[in-house]
Amino acid sequence: VLPDTCDFTVFGGTGDLALRKLLPALYHRDLEGQLPGDYRILGVSMSDLDADGWRDQVRAALRTHVDPTDLYDGAIDRFLGRLHHLRLDAQNPEDWDRLHALLKDRPNPEAAVRVFYLAVAPRLFGAICQRLDEIGVVDEHARVVLEKPIGHDLASAREVNDAVGRVFEESRIFRIDHYLGKESVQNLLVTRFANTFLEPLWSSHWVDHVQITVSETVGVGGRGAYYDHAGALRDMVQNHLLQLLCLVAMEPPTYVGRETVRDEKLKVLQALKPMTPTDVDHDTVRGRYAAGLVDGEPVPSYSDDLGHSGSRTETFVALKTEVQNWRWAGVPFYLRTGKRMDRRVSEIVVVFKQPPHSMFPGAEGATPPNRLHILVQPDEGMRLHLTAKEPGPGGYRLRPVSLDLRYAAAFDVRLPDAYERLLMDVIRGNPTLFMRRDEVEAAWTWTEPILQRWASSPDRPKRYAAGTDGPTAAATLLERDGRTWQEPDQ
Ligand code: BG6
Repeated sequence: VLPDTCDFTVFGGTGDLALRKLLPALYHRDLEGQLPGDYRILGVSMSDLDADGWRDQVRAALRTHVDPTDLYDGAIDRFLGRLHHLRLDAQNPEDWDRLHALLKDRPNPEAAVRVFYLAVAPRLFGAICQRLDEIGVVDEHARVVLEKPIGHDLASAREVNDAVGRVFEESRIFRIDHYLGKESVQNLLVTRFANTFLEPLWSSHWVDHVQITVSETVGVGGRGAYYDHAGALRDMVQNHLLQLLCLVAMEPPTYVGRETVRDEKLKVLQALKPMTPTDVDHDTVRGRYAAGLVDGEPVPSYSDDLGHSGSRTETFVALKTEVQNWRWAGVPFYLRTGKRMDRRVSEIVVVFKQPPHSMFPGAEGATPPNRLHILVQPDEGMRLHLTAKEPGPGGYRLRPVSLDLRYAAAFDVRLPDAYERLLMDVIRGNPTLFMRRDEVEAAWTWTEPILQRWASSPDRPKRYAAGTDGPTAAATLLERDGRTWQEPDQ
């Protein structure tokens, strides 16, 4: 339910995430008239800005990050009029009093839904929640949004969850994984469970293996300090890629409810084959980009991006895992992600088995197996690769063909950014697309042996030139199983 009044407070209000994603998403929802009639957005940061200073920053951010066709002066001014800024030094009690005063300074403050979006380092999550509680602004309508990463490993994730959980009950904690807000990712549930034709094939009986690729062309840019401490496994695999895997592999819930989908995803995470040190050595590849060319432009190496050498952090991961349950036993799931790759593409490929028998002699092996490509981005859609008869009287000549569905063409609407959907869910109080505590911790439980093995191994990440598809060892990971990575289907 959409509340009538809402105060949306962003800690880290002048940060990259707020300016690039959160404010543009809220602007779009405002434009569509979907925000509560009486709402305010409060930016909290360490910057010495008054409300106008922050509005100027946000205006510039909207001009950069919102499609020009959606920018209207009147709408921008109206939106900026909702914005307030508070400089807050967490150590200064008077600043917290000012936050309290601001939140109470509205008609009927008790009725307002308060959202606290923590777009700051996770080590601050617990302390901020505690202070919010102490100043008396956490009531039964309040909710908190946590940006990933939730912790650095299982122990620190538990600490964060415990600290936040002392103030907010679980149903009011929204742990964001923005991949779950992507249209194509939500559509995965609909494709699988609102149709009948796929589900009978969706198991080890007919699926040979699954590939999940999230490749990016960006480097670590100005985020080196965070990234070097995290690496691709923590930054991407532990959350986004595992969430995608869950949606591919999960069982159908009885209905889409706030717990039902998350219950099913949790079961998948708990069924992931635990990695022994030998498995880590055999089934994981880590890489790090060297200088190269991306889109024809020279780009520096990871060390140059960081400003120092000697780091052991990976910017690329490829790995093989398995979901050890009745449906999926024996089906490899290959995951890979990297920065500074040859293209920006996120894709899930379900590769089906070859027909059990070929009734077209001579054509045997000539055509690749059926594949369903689920295109997560940039060009959302689906493509099914089939085998067809080439027209003509000369007997059976088998050729690969494809069925292509692009959402942009099928629906002819603007696809909202993931944050638009997710922020509305927070305001409405619907946590279905957010990660529950047990999910986050199960994902860390599976990830941790890899982190530990890598940390104790003398090996370093393998080098790959920027603008390529990663280290050659990633190709070998599949080749030794007689498979290859599918070319992205753009
Ligand atoms: C973030 C990671 O969660 O996701 C970034 O921290 C990454 O490193 C980003 O670039 C990718 O998101 P998207 O939506 O651009 O695929």
